[in-house]
Amino acid sequence: MSEDAGTAEPHGLDRGLTNYGDRDFARYLRRSFARSMGISRTLLDKPVVGIAMTPSGFNNCHRSMPELVEAVSRGVLAAGALPRPFPTVSLGEVFLNPTSMMYRNLMAMDTEEMIQAQPMDAVVLIGGCDKTVPAQLMGAASAGLPAIQVVTGPMSTGRHRGQRLGACTDCRGFWAKYRAGTVDAEEIAEVEGRLSVTAGTCAVMGTASTMACIAEALGMSLPGTAAIPAVHSDRLVAAEETGRAAVRLIQTKITPAEVITRESVENAIRVLMAVSGSTNAIVHLTAIAGRLGIRIPSERFNEISDETPVLVDLKPVGEGYMEDFHAAGGMGALLRELRPLLHLGTVDVEGRTLTERLDEPPGWVDRSVIRAFHNPVSPVGGLVALSGNLAPDGAIFKRAAATPELFESEGRAVVFTGLEDLSRRIDDPDLDVAPGDVLVLQNAGPHAAGMPEAGYLPIPKKLARAGVKDMVRISDARMSGTAFGSIVLHIAPEAAIGGPLGAVRDGDRIRLSIRDKRIDLQVDEAEIARRLADHEPPPAPKRGYKALYRRTVTQAPDGCDFDFLIGEGEPR
Ligand code: FES
Repeated sequence: MSEDAGTAEPHGLDRGLTNYGDRDFARYLRRSFARSMGISRTLLDKPVVGIAMTPSGFNNCHRSMPELVEAVSRGVLAAGALPRPFPTVSLGEVFLNPTSMMYRNLMAMDTEEMIQAQPMDAVVLIGGCDKTVPAQLMGAASAGLPAIQVVTGPMSTGRHRGQRLGACTDCRGFWAKYRAGTVDAEEIAEVEGRLSVTAGTCAVMGTASTMACIAEALGMSLPGTAAIPAVHSDRLVAAEETGRAAVRLIQTKITPAEVITRESVENAIRVLMAVSGSTNAIVHLTAIAGRLGIRIPSERFNEISDETPVLVDLKPVGEGYMEDFHAAGGMGALLRELRPLLHLGTVDVEGRTLTERLDEPPGWVDRSVIRAFHNPVSPVGGLVALSGNLAPDGAIFKRAAATPELFESEGRAVVFTGLEDLSRRIDDPDLDVAPGDVLVLQNAGPHAAGMPEAGYLPIPKKLARAGVKDMVRISDARMSGTAFGSIVLHIAPEAAIGGPLGAVRDGDRIRLSIRDKRIDLQVDEAEIARRLADHEPPPAPKRGYKALYRRTVTQAPDGCDFDFLIGEGEPR
């Protein structure tokens, strides 16, 4: 029997029986159908570990999923429980239109509902590509069942004419050279086949890798697993061990709410700063924390940024790739360097405190990749939150990936009113644009466009060909974690809901000050208000998920989660 003496909670396949008004019939029927899968009665009586799996013919980053599911299942079986893989939505970053971001919340809802609706005692979440890990953690946080994350792991690098290549910082670097005319069509075609050469997620500290590090820093995945390359045998060992850990979770009953706390979220922000991680991770971490009612104000975010050095030297900001980070000592080595700044009493999915983890003997560390605390890549964190009259509710700037000479700058606005306008005019030889100008993209925020990674506006071709490598660019969009430049993102409120970004006109002056953490339109407030008075929101989709999205998506400072999914907690 899977129920102890009629008093304990049902477990395994007896959880959440379908209600036909006859509980014994429901149990008999479920077990009868389960038998059709060829599972013995002995195994059907065991506790059940669900495995949220996300393979897809449209998700190259999850190509190794079948092997990972097999390895997790092996661990679950070896520890005495029944593994039950189940599919959810999968989001392959470059295959989704208008943007994968629009579907993160759909995947989070799918994950939450399937965890709750199906009979399982704990769940293993296998994700990897950018939006999948945050979606799984958001869903698991809301579902409330014991859960553990394992990631597919990063790609290994390829080679091109003696140079290592990894998606997708090198994709952008080569494309910029192609646009500037220094790489020809033949070479760019060669490069295309050498950027993404193995299974796994992007090879640099982009969004997927940042989220893998954050999942480990939160305590939601096993220690030392974030950076293991996708094709390394240790990745399968980690998956097997994750399966065993999921069975231990059934005993300890540790839920995501006990692991994801204000303190562990702050630890995760420290890690985000120290790895100089993706700007997208801020939106995702905000959404994950928000599910549990945890809010981190932008002032606290900036305090953490100003106190936390960048210690990891990886692309897109530095030199190395994720495979180097793993070989250099990975998250364990990084957390040891950050120890004086971390909340050490946080517990992970194994119930171990961070103190216990960091008290273990340290391994060898490659100091060219993971710097010592007193010898950082940069003395301050990679990301800062901005305010100002252009971003009353906030914006984000990745200072580690920007040009320091542009940190204090003022320029003339060159405005694109949307994505279509941008693609139509950016390379127009008659575009009135000069190197010191500020490129402005409006109407690319969550309501207007689902917040695509369009914030990395290309340098206009005529300037790129003249040797211009960077310009200040501002928008309500996001930017790929693998991109770089002096780019202000996530401006809130977005232009489409009447934010001041929509009031910018060609020729206005815009001032950026990283010292003061501000982005300002040098136009008087009365004129800004006059321009915004005519604002008309874009037409809303009438049906389906897109209509739900438009009605309920929040702005970036609330994680772009749906308003009805955010947990109760203190106000932002
Ligand atoms: Fe999947 Fe980059 S495209 S991680």
